Amino acid sequence: MKKKILVTGGLGFIGSHTSLKLLENNYEIIVLDNLSNSEIEVRSRISQLAKKDFDFVEGDIRDRNLLNNLFKKNKIDCVIHFAGLKAAGESEKYPLDYYDNNVVGSLVLLQEMKLANIKSIIFSSSASVYGNSPTTKCKEETQLKPISVYGKTKLTIEDILKNLYKSEPEWKIINLRYFNPIGAHFTGIIGEDSRDTPTNLIPFITEVALGKKDQLLVFGDDYNTSDGTGKRDYIHIDDLARGHLFALEKLKQEINICADINLGTGKSHSVFEVIKAFERASGKKIPYKITGRREGDIDEICADPTFASNFINWEAKYDLDKMCSDVWKWKKMNPNGYR
Ligand code: NAD
Ligand code: WQD
Repeated sequence: MKKKILVTGGLGFIGSHTSLKLLENNYEIIVLDNLSNSEIEVRSRISQLAKKDFDFVEGDIRDRNLLNNLFKKNKIDCVIHFAGLKAAGESEKYPLDYYDNNVVGSLVLLQEMKLANIKSIIFSSSASVYGNSPTTKCKEETQLKPISVYGKTKLTIEDILKNLYKSEPEWKIINLRYFNPIGAHFTGIIGEDSRDTPTNLIPFITEVALGKKDQLLVFGDDYNTSDGTGKRDYIHIDDLARGHLFALEKLKQEINICADINLGTGKSHSVFEVIKAFERASGKKIPYKITGRREGDIDEICADPTFASNFINWEAKYDLDKMCSDVWKWKKMNPNGYR
């Protein structure tokens, strides 16, 4: 029998690419999304690429009745939980919204899963749980000290899941800590869309390349890094989506499990390196100006992906040039995203 997966937030950036991978690998999926940061158009794009349809429920993970009915009507084997708010800067301004959506939302989801006896979950955690780590290469056991409210919501959810596992060891739980996901599907049909003006580096650079923004502001060149600009571990969205398949395989093999896994490439790149890679990929000059540091930014962060390789047999395949060329293809085909 086909395994049935509930994908919360499955029309978002990471959710859409993962949903496609699941369909391509013969999983049956139900996507639950409240469309707060995605467009219904994504559903047909995923179906177009997968050459099959899938169930979609428009709704919120905090809606207990909705989840209760959904779990009564469907035999779900596992939940992949992407739904949540993700902007670190914004989370400082709206902490209650972030705790409500991310923490309360996850709690309601877990309570309803427990009621329905569904005890298998892959949770979208984030490198932001490491905060300003004393080491630039984070292992899973590196100290967790999130700086932003957003990072704190992710760590709180990880903690809830660990407490749950301790009291009910029949659960199967994997927290995937993503580093900096970028890129798009190689066809350019799905990619990263943002309702508001993008604040992340790559989406902003694409706006500059399209001429929608005059220049990129480089937030500081006085960091303790090779060229003074911030360094991050950028990971191709296709590698990230594939990581979920490997995590699912692991969950299927184990009787019980609770693990944290970094998903990153193990290489970090500076803002200047990203600009150069994007210029190579697009053939466009990216004008930039150095400005002051952005509050909350750190010098450098990079995954130590050894555990992912040993434990789920996963390694990232794609480099920064491939990430930039896929982003550029998506952006040229969809200058206004899905709208
Ligand atoms: P996204 O905003 O593109 O996708 C999230 C999706 O969840 C959206 O489609 C949104 O409409 C939906 N959603 C939000 N709140 C919901 C709710 N209460 N009920 C139902 N649906 C809801 O974000 P993304 O980049 O795809 O990120 C997915 C997950 O991965 C998030 O949990 C995010 O925190 C985490 N993450 C993202 C990054 C990143 O840089 N993109 C890095 C680390 C972790
Ligand atoms: C990358 C680098 C900036 C924009 C964020 C979240 C994190 C995770 C991934 C969810 C930094 C510099 C950026 C610009 C710049 N998301 N920059 N000019 O901050 O590493 O991580 O996304 O879990 O939690 O915080 O990513 O793309 O914003 O920044 O110079 O206009 O680019 O200073 O060095 P970040 P980013």
